[in-house]
Amino acid sequence: MTDHPRIYLSPPHQAGGELEAVRRVLESNWLAPLGPEVDAFEREMAKAAGVGHAAALVSGTAALHLALRLLGVGAGDEVLCPTLTFAATAFAIDYVGAKPVFLDATEGSWTLDPALLVEELELRATQGRLPAAVIPVDLYGQCCDYEPILEICGEYRVPVIEDAAEALGASYRGRPAGGFGRFGVFSFNGNKIVTTSGGGMLVSDDEEAIRRARFLASQARDPAPHYEHSTIGYNYRMSNLLAAVGRVQLAALDAKVAARRAIFERYREWLGHLPGVGFMPEPEWGRASRWLTCITVDPDAFGADREAIRLALEAENVESRPVWKPMHLQPVFRGASRRGGEVAERLFRDGLCLPSGSGLSEADQERVCGIVRGLGEELGSGRT
Ligand SMILES: Cc1ncc(COP(=O)(O)O)c(C=O)c1O
Repeated sequence: MTDHPRIYLSPPHQAGGELEAVRRVLESNWLAPLGPEVDAFEREMAKAAGVGHAAALVSGTAALHLALRLLGVGAGDEVLCPTLTFAATAFAIDYVGAKPVFLDATEGSWTLDPALLVEELELRATQGRLPAAVIPVDLYGQCCDYEPILEICGEYRVPVIEDAAEALGASYRGRPAGGFGRFGVFSFNGNKIVTTSGGGMLVSDDEEAIRRARFLASQARDPAPHYEHSTIGYNYRMSNLLAAVGRVQLAALDAKVAARRAIFERYREWLGHLPGVGFMPEPEWGRASRWLTCITVDPDAFGADREAIRLALEAENVESRPVWKPMHLQPVFRGASRRGGEVAERLFRDGLCLPSGSGLSEADQERVCGIVRGLGEELGSGRT
């Protein structure tokens, strides 16, 4: 065992100024309902995503749920999404009574494979069973290849919800993540690049849809002095207190992205020479935020698999985590339709996310790398 303090995968990193922002809100007593910090955070997030409007919510999952509801997706519908994602993407599809259909990722980006999407939509078009929506996911801070995705979805008039929960600060061909679909979704969960401890944002150019999202997220209260409801609502709005934290964090976004990208580059420099160790690629179409640095480990070349590395790190009080387990392998989605999945399976088998918090010190990162290099040397495969 080690007496080193634990190094976490992606802990919250305060930008400085959060305490003052919270104090300001408390002094104004504007804890509820909603308030000026929520309004300002929505404006600032819409700008960050390059779209017109935003609704601040309790989570990214809530934002996905509302996006599907606003598109009228419901029982009997099918929604396409990548199998390589966090479960919330697929859970939200189930919330509205629809069924997820899982598509594989590409080796070159780890994001939704546009060629498979084309095949799936063309086939479904001939069968008259087009999906109600497609949810591409900007994985680990990397945008999907949106040109072909939007082209084919546009051709078949299938609406796109961009799950950019992990990708605030990333861009695709110079445009920021979050603005590519009819709706975009962000998460401010505690492990994200910008956190409000928990929170999310739904963004869109459709002003009326965002107004409706705010209405549904506030228990769908019709205008009346008493409580009047003509549809089902949710308690999904973000608090003014948390929005104040989010604004301070968001103002530091560029520095946070720069820090995560620098961490990625150091990992590449310090581990890239080890046999069998590879890194999540960054295609020419975009600039990733490198929310998490993900490596792949070829056990034959390295001498140990990614699980051995994870356990070696854990033994030294360092948190790392396997790449997302594909949705088609999850017991809860057993039997779901899918196209492909082998790429995602391999990435899950060989992929490991390393500590990547924007507050990670060089000394701590060196400690992480030392453990990985040490394991390689022990196995006779490492070269330093
Ligand atoms: C791809 C993806 N989608 C959706 C979510 C859900 O966001 P939240 O945790 O804010 O509900 C997350 C992460 O938490 C995620 O990684």
